[in-house]
Amino acid sequence: MNIQKEINRRRTFAIISHPDAGKTTLTEKLLLFGGAIQVAGAVKSNKIKKTATSDWMEIERQRGISVATSVMGFEYNDIKINILDTPGHQDFAEDTFRTLTAVDSVIVVIDVAKGVEPQTEKLVEVCRMRKTPTIVFINKMDRPGKDAFELLDEIEKKLHLRVTPLSWPINMGSNFKGVYNIFSQNLNLFTPNKQTIQEGIEINDINSPELDQYLPKDAKKLREEVALAAGVYPPMDVQQYLDGDLSPVFFGSALNNFGVKELLDNFISFAPTPRGKDSDVRHVNPDDEAFTGFVFKIHANMDPNHRDRIAFVRVVSGVFLRNTNYLHVRLNRKLKFASPTAFMAQKKSVVDEMFPGDIVGLHDTGNFKIGDTLTEGEILNYKGIPSFSPELFKYIENADPLKSKQLAKGIDQLMDEGVAQLFTGKHTGRKIIGTVGALQFEVIQYRLEHEYNAKCRYEHITLYKTAWFTSKNKAQLEDFQARKANQIALDKEGREVFLADSQFSLQMAQDKYKDIQFHFTSEF
Ligand code: G4P
Repeated sequence: MNIQKEINRRRTFAIISHPDAGKTTLTEKLLLFGGAIQVAGAVKSNKIKKTATSDWMEIERQRGISVATSVMGFEYNDIKINILDTPGHQDFAEDTFRTLTAVDSVIVVIDVAKGVEPQTEKLVEVCRMRKTPTIVFINKMDRPGKDAFELLDEIEKKLHLRVTPLSWPINMGSNFKGVYNIFSQNLNLFTPNKQTIQEGIEINDINSPELDQYLPKDAKKLREEVALAAGVYPPMDVQQYLDGDLSPVFFGSALNNFGVKELLDNFISFAPTPRGKDSDVRHVNPDDEAFTGFVFKIHANMDPNHRDRIAFVRVVSGVFLRNTNYLHVRLNRKLKFASPTAFMAQKKSVVDEMFPGDIVGLHDTGNFKIGDTLTEGEILNYKGIPSFSPELFKYIENADPLKSKQLAKGIDQLMDEGVAQLFTGKHTGRKIIGTVGALQFEVIQYRLEHEYNAKCRYEHITLYKTAWFTSKNKAQLEDFQARKANQIALDKEGREVFLADSQFSLQMAQDKYKDIQFHFTSEF
């Protein structure tokens, strides 16, 4: 088996955007090109609509669908493409952050009229920190929007990305004529059409009179703009893109199928093949012979009668084989999987082998939590899936004393899934749930009831932030622990966290205890 060949033909990525920019539409069009789906509209239902902000029944329904669309694999020109779905709703931003640890590159979709929106800023910041190669797709060119130069400027300023346009739009809105591909030097004319693929017209020299035949009114302006862009933006450099230092930009309209094939063709030509990953003992390369992988997402089964779950494992190195013993490093236990699942388009199927870059779904009865590592026996743990200090907090209390066991188990498993974080007051023993979005509280309550037959209620807590803390100054640490005893809780791993009830009290603690480091992500 030629593992290198399999690695080279894989591309694993995520599409990120602010809700409504066109992520779902673009995903769907990519699947259409790959022949993975036959009709538009199939992916659509995966969306949690804006209107459903507190409709958790709707979320439950969506959750069922999203198992199938968590990973969408398909083949295109002998390249195996894995698109990892990310939830659009901002309350699930942490899910998205975790998924970003399992991809090798991203495509950012921006709405030409709205420009850079807050959610995009946050997500791109994470990608930038991780130096994830990023392609930008400016969508909805069939609508009136911002001028291309203005928009590229905004992307540079707000997303801090160095950009290079690989295509250039010819007008926009009702006057949109298409794009000129700077990189491949051809012209793509736009006809509003939702199904067919437009082939480009080769125009090797932008100054050729042929261009005027196609664009009698717009050729002059196009030449001026392309010349100006060439002066302002750096030329495309694949290595810089792979290093996360340069982001190619394309313009198009996903809904009209315009610019999507060009995006896909360029994507497969230069997007990175599966990369290695740092562990606590060494950097692991994808072509290392022994299998390793890590869990980046856990999805509970929708059937309340079977409390099993699917753990999504990204294969980092080697080949994952069915019915083979692997070491679950945290539990120090060998586990074997009889029916590992692959995700092709929207179908799941049992597979015998998976390669680096692939995502394998493993049935789990409660052994896994996010961040867990599987190996062939080597003791190593993958790093880089931090928990962030949550933004919202509530005490969680048992509302049915007869079901306290069920409640404890439910909370435990939901926390393993990464739905929220649990802190237990060191002195009080009271349990505090911390989340990044308000929606999670409802999701937890609903799921405890329906999946674990347990009831909870919430109580208000005045809490601004939680911070993990460390110090080499033992005396200072002990003083802090003694004086703040009532404001210290334990996280799920038993590590101490400081419960700061206001920005002021956090500041006071930071000022007073200079030798204590306060951490706002769990990896320190
Ligand atoms: P999201 O996943 O990023 O949230 O966005 P989604 O693809 O659902 O697109 C949001 C809306 O924008 C949809 O309209 C979609 O049809 C529209 N859209 C996507 N690409 C384009 C484009 O290139 N041009 C134009 N004009 N519209 C585009 P909707 O009315 O919210 O949904 P639907 O009723 O069409 O399903």
